[in-house]
Amino acid sequence: MSSGSYHFETLNDAGFQAERLRQQAQAFRAVEIGILHSAGIQTESDVLELGCGPGFVTDLLAELAPEGSLYAIEPSPTLLAQVADNVRNKPARGLYPIQAYGNCLPIPDSSIDFSYARFVLQHIPHPDTTVSEIFRVMRPGGHFCAVDSDDGLVVFYPEDPRVSKLLRMAQTTQTEKGGDRFIGRKLPSMMTEAGFVNVKSRILALTSSELPFAVLFNILLGYKASLLGDAIDIKQLFQDLSHQVTDGRQLVAGGVFIVTGEKV
Ligand SMILES: C[S@@+](CC[C@H](N)C(=O)[O-])C[C@H]1O[C@@H](n2cnc3c(N)ncnc32)[C@H](O)[C@@H]1O
Repeated sequence: MSSGSYHFETLNDAGFQAERLRQQAQAFRAVEIGILHSAGIQTESDVLELGCGPGFVTDLLAELAPEGSLYAIEPSPTLLAQVADNVRNKPARGLYPIQAYGNCLPIPDSSIDFSYARFVLQHIPHPDTTVSEIFRVMRPGGHFCAVDSDDGLVVFYPEDPRVSKLLRMAQTTQTEKGGDRFIGRKLPSMMTEAGFVNVKSRILALTSSELPFAVLFNILLGYKASLLGDAIDIKQLFQDLSHQVTDGRQLVAGGVFIVTGEKV
């Protein structure tokens, strides 16, 4: 299976993308602790993280489940090699970075208490197969939480034609690579189809008054710009919007879906 719309080794700005993932993990760390607790992670959970990237969020999962085990799944060998160094305190029953794709997890049936997929399912062709695979490895009583984007939640006002073009082109390019920029709204039904119950969804939205604009800009447009190469002068766009936000003439907002489900 291909890694769909996020293949780290072929990104044209891998260094920037790794930094973007670090920023994204740091900016949300406090909020994410609350999300993970209410989604069901516990001190002794055996945890699976799908598409862990370089391990910045893996570190947080290890902090929240220190007595359990942690299976960090990632197809990119470059990213996987960074995971152990980025997880400061290994869980008592072990940290296991594993190179694999989500649709074929080398994990036994009914062995995981808590699974987390953060900004991963939007990149995977046929994400429903991966959600079913996660269901297979969960224990009865286990919880799955997926956090992902949906471009329907992105607001730039007043509209800038360069942003609209960037969003349109990124949607097309990501779809061509097997990804989906509107995955957020589809997650609840996908989880229900896979067999999860008590499926609940909420939206977390942030505006340019709540986060430093550089961080919000990178979260909302950083990956999209990397998909499109030189099609847009992203530095100029950042500078223009940044001035407008500072002057109070531009509002930027973005949201993510947080969807949880339980296996009985
Ligand atoms: C946007 S990054 C998010 C990384 C991390 N979850 C985070 O939030 O910092 C998407 C990750 O999903 C991984 N990925 C892509 N296709 C995958 C697949 N089929 N199965 C599992 N992971 C995949 C990528 O290699 C990449 O590390």
